[in-house]
Amino acid sequence: GMVIGTAVAGGGHHEDQDYPDPFTHDRRYLRHMSQQFSSLSPENQMKWEFLRPDQDTYDFAAADAIVEYAEANGQVVRGHTLLWHSQNPDWLEEGDFSREELRTLLREHITTVVGRYSGRIDQWDVANEIFQEDGELRTEENIWIRELGPGIIADAFRWAHEADPSAELFLNDYNVDGVNPKSDAYYAFAQDLLEQGVPLHGFSTQAHLSLQYAFPGDLEDNLRRFDELGLNTAITELDVRMAPDGRHGRPSREQLAQQADYYRQALEACLNVEGCRSFTIWGFTDKYSWVPHFFEDEGYATVMTDRFQRKPAFYALLRTL
Ligand code: XIL
Repeated sequence: GMVIGTAVAGGGHHEDQDYPDPFTHDRRYLRHMSQQFSSLSPENQMKWEFLRPDQDTYDFAAADAIVEYAEANGQVVRGHTLLWHSQNPDWLEEGDFSREELRTLLREHITTVVGRYSGRIDQWDVANEIFQEDGELRTEENIWIRELGPGIIADAFRWAHEADPSAELFLNDYNVDGVNPKSDAYYAFAQDLLEQGVPLHGFSTQAHLSLQYAFPGDLEDNLRRFDELGLNTAITELDVRMAPDGRHGRPSREQLAQQADYYRQALEACLNVEGCRSFTIWGFTDKYSWVPHFFEDEGYATVMTDRFQRKPAFYALLRTL
């Protein structure tokens, strides 16, 4: 019952990420995507910035294409994301809206977007990255929490559930792989939502890992404590970046082996937790990975090279399954 997913590249907002859309232009990319994966996550195509070019318009073209493609290939889809502090359009962030207007904007957005794909999206990242590293809510940066208060998060879950009662609704974040102040904050927050009867169904960790840090050995323990709350869990954006130290500025053999080991351990943690049934890597080829654009001097984070050669990490995942 477990699905193995990848992000579907396209629409990166970083200026050096402006290659032609792989989803429409790279047949090799598509062949791997259809053959190797059972779940797809739009990397950018369901974010506010992409769906909402202006206040009165929805642009569903890219998102629709992914959902239709997944259906044609017997894959499920993870929706990403509805309430976030990042990749919101300027008209929203810089607009002069009253609290009431903002609330209506979010409610209508969630109702429209989740409703459009009702019954066709397995899991939704309803709220993304709402906590800071210190375990406080990201109140300053997140327009919704700042303007409407933390109660808006519960409302977002309620609206999403009304629009699609069959979708599993998730809290999703990075640096919450292990047990730490941030994941502790999620644990308390999730407990609170569940006590209030809010339709929260899952907690997921993005798992953007780096060889510069030890593997979060308590990943499994962390997933398990959410499992014991009655929530499903998921790994949603796994990649393992590195500063290459091999010849010609490329990864060394040792680094590739270590990377494979991180991928294996992440998959094993998920396999060992009953309610962890969705395991997604944030792209499968270095050709389209977001990592070099966002992390200085780091890259090579996915399981295939930029020429679609399978790295040790690819085989490590296969063997572990
Ligand atoms: C990233 C995409 O991969 C990039 O293409 C885009 O330019 C920025 O966003 N956490 C998330 C994802 O939840 O949405 C982010 O995706 C990576 C970090």
